[in-house]
Amino acid sequence: MAQDTDVLLNEKRIFNPDEQVIKRANVDKWESELNKGKDLEKYWANKAEQFEWFQKWDKVLDDSNKPFYKWFVNGKINLAYNAVDRWIKTPKRNQVAILYANERGDERKITYYELYREVNKFANGLINLGVKKGDRVSMYLPMCPELLVSMLACTKIGAIHNVVYSGLSVGPFVERMNELKAKILITADGTYRRGKIIDLKKIADEGLLQSHTVETVIVVNHTGNSIESSDLSGREISYDRLIEGESDEFKAELMDAEDPLFILHTSGSTGKPKGILHTTAGYMVGVATTLRDIFDIHDDDLWWCTGDIGWITGHSYVIYAPLLLGTTTLVYEGAPDYPDPGIWWRMVERYGVTKFYTAPTAIRHLMRFGNRYPKIYNTSSLKILGTVGEPINPEAWMWFYKNIGKEKIPIMDTWWQTETGMHLISPLPTTPLKPGSATKPVPGVEADVVDGKGNPVPLGKGGFLIIKTPWPAMFRNLYHDEERFINSYWKDYPGYYNAGDIARKDEDGYFWIQGRSDDVLKIAGHRIGTSEVESAFVSHPAVAEAAVIGKSDPVKGQVVKAFLVLREGYQLKTKLIEDLKLHVRYELGPVAVLGELDQVKSLPKTRSGKIMRRILRAREEGEDLGDTSTLEE
Ligand code: WTA
Repeated sequence: MAQDTDVLLNEKRIFNPDEQVIKRANVDKWESELNKGKDLEKYWANKAEQFEWFQKWDKVLDDSNKPFYKWFVNGKINLAYNAVDRWIKTPKRNQVAILYANERGDERKITYYELYREVNKFANGLINLGVKKGDRVSMYLPMCPELLVSMLACTKIGAIHNVVYSGLSVGPFVERMNELKAKILITADGTYRRGKIIDLKKIADEGLLQSHTVETVIVVNHTGNSIESSDLSGREISYDRLIEGESDEFKAELMDAEDPLFILHTSGSTGKPKGILHTTAGYMVGVATTLRDIFDIHDDDLWWCTGDIGWITGHSYVIYAPLLLGTTTLVYEGAPDYPDPGIWWRMVERYGVTKFYTAPTAIRHLMRFGNRYPKIYNTSSLKILGTVGEPINPEAWMWFYKNIGKEKIPIMDTWWQTETGMHLISPLPTTPLKPGSATKPVPGVEADVVDGKGNPVPLGKGGFLIIKTPWPAMFRNLYHDEERFINSYWKDYPGYYNAGDIARKDEDGYFWIQGRSDDVLKIAGHRIGTSEVESAFVSHPAVAEAAVIGKSDPVKGQVVKAFLVLREGYQLKTKLIEDLKLHVRYELGPVAVLGELDQVKSLPKTRSGKIMRRILRAREEGEDLGDTSTLEE
């Protein structure tokens, strides 16, 4: 969401950390550690030492072939081994690893030892199906323990997982499966959503009709929903059948530090979503370090990240980082306001959650109900709060700080991306906070705000956010699209990473992120490309051409505003509007929240035929149209 610059410029409040928080935090040491030596490699090497390596690395960072950086060169390691097996030999063996809860009040507690056995059984099951290191496995699953087990089992085998968010629909799901030539699909009979069961299997079946590579479909019996099997080819097997009688031992695959770990798709400005490729060792070191140091994780913590595992937030901070630290991670399946808007605070009270990480859009939504709900529950177990996904407006920050944090505990406003894998700009628990600012780059990372030519802009002025140092959890490539990798991220400012965001830096060196600099929308924190929504519109018979922009929305941050050129004989009346809304929802899933649709005669285009969304945006916001010299007419 593009923030109102005036509001931000006037935001002068500073909140200093509470003494208790500072005392507990063990960050001073590592910050000074880095500052002392300014030795990036040594800093990250120290962080990597905490893991069990099968073979140690020769070199921490190889930057001889930029931007194809390599981390922990020649190191051999396995992530699942470090996230699960390592704890079996310690007193954490019987500690709860995954605490699953849902909107119906069901609960499942899985200890590290139980998780270890379950992952091993499932890994053996996958091996029996012929899954090998390097194979791609698709997952279309709700927030259920079996999703974590499936991901960890792939990681243990060395298979590359590709999780498709269960709120995306058939189109994106098929596209990803086919692009990756996935051999296996893991799905479920359904997911709970606001008192209903959404039949995921039905969507999966529809998708499978268009898949030519999936050999086996594994179905998790999650809701007990009676599903119809459309299994004509005999390729379906239930999760329970697959692991029945399997051995609960499995030897983790020896992975090279740079072996692929997973591919996760995210929207870019143009074309199809990008398959972001993350690799093994650097990712582990990056996510574990940031979670431990930013959220000050200790042995007695109960960690709750409300993000869905179908997005990077869930990959990094619902599953991998917390398990790598031996923490208990709460996996919650349900909406923030069902059965009522007190559900999250009720969960915090019930389980004694200590660290709580969520999205600004959820806070803005809950804020609308005032302080009535937070007041009912005892949330005093909380020690640190956090947000991610979009800029948090100061009002939402203050509401969170007062009503949930009781003005005592800090909020970590973490800036990062699917591409970065880990937090890059974020406060530490000891950082003085300014509401709405993600503060400063984390230790080991340098960032700046520059103009189109790469020159730093004066303090307080808006510009493009770049990252100047490599970081271990950085993505390594786009799946089978090296050219786009270079062009989208590394070409504009050679040697630096172009984040695609607009930001400002203030006189204290604090960063204020203002939104995307490209045609990517942020709807309720979900990233969605204008071109994807446009394609969905155009696939409807009534639509000849479409252009969409993001329009500010008080809760969602942005919603879609569409300008449509209709085919002859069509008028944008109530019936067609309803029809189009359903159509786009069917094509993309509920993530594409539509606002107004406007019928127009033509779209503003450049002479080479590119839609000028900038003009549409300016007109919509009543602003000056700017330079229109390239406009066609
Ligand atoms: C935005 C989500 C402001 C930003 C982890 C970025 C933020 C995009 C923040 C990445 C924040 C994320 N403040 N903006 N704290 N965190 N963003 O890939 O525009 O879904 O480029 O990753 O979200 O979205 P993605």
